[in-house]
Amino acid sequence: MQFLPLIEAKREGLALSPDQISEMVRAFTAGEIPDYQMAAFLMAVCFRGLDAGEIRALTLSMRDSGEVLTLPDDPRPVVDKHSTGGVGDKVSLPLAPLLACLGFRVPMISGRGLGITGGTLDKLDSIPGFQTLLPARRIIEVVQQTGCVICGQTDRMVPADKKLYALRDVTATVPSIPLIVASILSKKLAENLDALVLDVKFGAAAFMTTLDRARQLACAMVNLGRECGLNTRALLTSMDAPLGRSAGNWLEIRETVDCLDNRGPEDLRELVVDSAAHLLLQTAKATSLEQGRSLASDCLASGTPRRKWDDMLHAQGADLVAVEQKLARTATATAVVEIRSPSEGFVTVCDARAIGETVRDLGAGRLTGDSTINYDNGVDSMAKPGERVEKGSVLARVHGSTPEAAKAAAVRIAAAFKISDHPPSLSPLVREVIES
Ligand code: URA
Repeated sequence: MQFLPLIEAKREGLALSPDQISEMVRAFTAGEIPDYQMAAFLMAVCFRGLDAGEIRALTLSMRDSGEVLTLPDDPRPVVDKHSTGGVGDKVSLPLAPLLACLGFRVPMISGRGLGITGGTLDKLDSIPGFQTLLPARRIIEVVQQTGCVICGQTDRMVPADKKLYALRDVTATVPSIPLIVASILSKKLAENLDALVLDVKFGAAAFMTTLDRARQLACAMVNLGRECGLNTRALLTSMDAPLGRSAGNWLEIRETVDCLDNRGPEDLRELVVDSAAHLLLQTAKATSLEQGRSLASDCLASGTPRRKWDDMLHAQGADLVAVEQKLARTATATAVVEIRSPSEGFVTVCDARAIGETVRDLGAGRLTGDSTINYDNGVDSMAKPGERVEKGSVLARVHGSTPEAAKAAAVRIAAAFKISDHPPSLSPLVREVIES
């Protein structure tokens, strides 16, 4: 195809037709458009944007670039949740088995982390034996039998996004709302869902640093989702402080199990229960958000989602005996250093960006797509904003590969906390809900 005129048109701010967009996606996926030309086009989109019709055409062409998941007819609605990513955000992990116990089917296709954003698949890779790469046939089998699966995209699902995302990552073209909308929704539409809840993060450690930008992204995804026949809602949630008390792959699996055991941090539990409550309401399994919350929280307290988690782990190849042995150890990293509060007072700041960068540099995250991950390192036992601490009480524990690395990271983590005589005024974790 003649791609140059399309790049020129976009550079001048003109709109492309749906046919032009679908031909562009087809040709790029087939390797007929070189990366340098697509990179120029993506940069033009960053500056000029796409109108609603173009975003829709791009999203649907990307969805149709590969196979879509088709689950057999079944009374259980098919649902999923997607987060735009943050530090310590492990909500998907306890949510999938909870939703399965609430009578949903959950084909949760997740991604890997990049930079300070943790990835669900990296966390799952820290579980002995767990398989995240499954063929579509096995994804369907596990969902039908267990109610939930959490795995990576197959090679055949949305290949256009795989190629485009890899190029965006190295050409500084990730933070464009139209491109993010098309990337996320094309993958979710390929799951053939009945309902989707999105967690759009804003704040220091989020893609969207301001509430306003997060709202724009959320509105664009909710509106397009609904236009494409997918019942979509978005929660706007703060990512100034990490979610929960742990950041790092295995440490977050441990916190997931705590949540499923009806313990664990309150903010994690709140977001898990709220996400489930919205999906219950979206699919008419609850008549109000309050009823949805109560159904979800009773289910979590019943212990069945914990057993469902084990079923899912087993179905995806995990060695449950080795998992229990790993959970029984208080730490799996080589060196653990405690950070103690220099004074008494209230935690006013726990800077998610600084913590995310330190956790990444401990080896728990990636600087580039092919970095090797360390599954045991990270930070846990983090004090939360608003909590009272005494002089000498533990603010966090750093898990590192060597005592030196853990000590150096501890200096950075200590600087991420601020203690004051006065308690901070805390905003609600879920700041807004976007329904249409
Ligand atoms: N996550 C995605 O899957 N795609 C984006 O473009 C950004 C975040």
